[in-house]
Amino acid sequence: MESKAIPLPLPREQVCPFGPPPEIEEIRQSSSLTRVLCPTGIEAWLVTRYADVHEVLGDSRRFSSRVGMAGHLLANQPPDAPVEEGDFNRMDGEDYLRFRRVMAPAISTVKRTELFRPLVRSTVDELLDGLAAEQGPVDLHQKFSNPLTSSIIAELLDVPHGDRELFRDLAKALFDSTIDVEALDAARLPLFGYLHTLVVERMRTPGEDVISVMAAKGKAAERPFTELELTKVAAGFLAAGFDTTAAAISYGILALLRHREQFSLLCDDPSLAPDAAEEILRLLAAGSGMLRVATVDTEVRGTRIAAGDFVVVSAQAANHDPARFTAPDRLDITRTRRQHLAFGHGPHQCPGQHVARMELVAVLAALPRRVPSLRLAEPFSEIEFKKDTAVFGPVRLPVTWDHVLPGS
Ligand code: HEM
Repeated sequence: MESKAIPLPLPREQVCPFGPPPEIEEIRQSSSLTRVLCPTGIEAWLVTRYADVHEVLGDSRRFSSRVGMAGHLLANQPPDAPVEEGDFNRMDGEDYLRFRRVMAPAISTVKRTELFRPLVRSTVDELLDGLAAEQGPVDLHQKFSNPLTSSIIAELLDVPHGDRELFRDLAKALFDSTIDVEALDAARLPLFGYLHTLVVERMRTPGEDVISVMAAKGKAAERPFTELELTKVAAGFLAAGFDTTAAAISYGILALLRHREQFSLLCDDPSLAPDAAEEILRLLAAGSGMLRVATVDTEVRGTRIAAGDFVVVSAQAANHDPARFTAPDRLDITRTRRQHLAFGHGPHQCPGQHVARMELVAVLAALPRRVPSLRLAEPFSEIEFKKDTAVFGPVRLPVTWDHVLPGS
């Protein structure tokens, strides 16, 4: 029998560049959950209302993460692959908590926030000084967002300065969606080898970085972490923290330039940066949904879900739910209602969120103030958006400017 499931992803880019596709509104209003056909060929229930997304993500007893967050999108992450040693992001319950208990504090205590924040600010300033030495147009995604986020991840893992270029090149290749399988393997193996060496060193001589803190805290636990587990955690940070944050920064700047009055508000008052960061995250981040699998026969909004059924949770659709946010499709950096789901919710909620926020806030406080003449160097209609990826955003952000003002 022919499937009636709606194929994902719905086309959206030029129609609705800063929100979910228009069809989502209709799907959200329907009285039951909708069946969708995902790019990897699996069928799933699509969850789009804020309250329902909150419910599913918050209940790992009924909705397991073992299928992998992007198993509906990326063919190289099949949902039926066994969960192996160190695959923390696909674990539930106690197995997951063993990692989470040390991972979240390791990120937030690393080098202590009060030391880390000025470092993020000075990295932003240095990159803007670099722009001052150039003439536009440049691709801001490559010249600014990518180097900023890869530097911060390198700081978190405390990658020695001399190795950073190598590390960046490898990381870039690893997350380049246009790369072919052979080139991907050629990048992946040295990166894992590199991270493994780093882990072995840190287990022997701990510093203050995420891996050292996890290794030290893990040592005191009943089951200390193995080298493989820590290598996978380091790779997980890279995978989850590099492209997501770079995309949120570039996408956010694009949205602000498209809604110039919002950019001008930030030029005049950088203290709006924390609110602007939350609004950008609400409006834009969270990608193409997160995959879960039902562990028991259950129900969400009157729809019966059988054990083993896949569920795609669209945090982006939830962040545009009018039942939760007034005029949800409008970019309004003075909005006061927050509690968006861009970082997820529940046990797997993003453990790097305060680092991502720190980066976004530093950018939004400095860039409009120092480069108030920043503008797109190409018509908006020619901006290309990423397709078929787990993280949305522009492929390139061509910009130009008149002057870059000095840093603080
Ligand atoms: C704007 C930037 C970011 C966004 C929108 C974002 C979003 C998310 C979301 C939605 C999840 C939850 C996945 C799920 O429930 O299945 C997640 C998980 C994760 N994020 Fe982030 N993230 C960002 C930045 C970062 C950064 C900077 C780091 C590292 C420093 C990081 C590390 C992680 C890790 C390790 C996980 C896996 C957690 C787990 O499954 O245990 N993220 N992120």
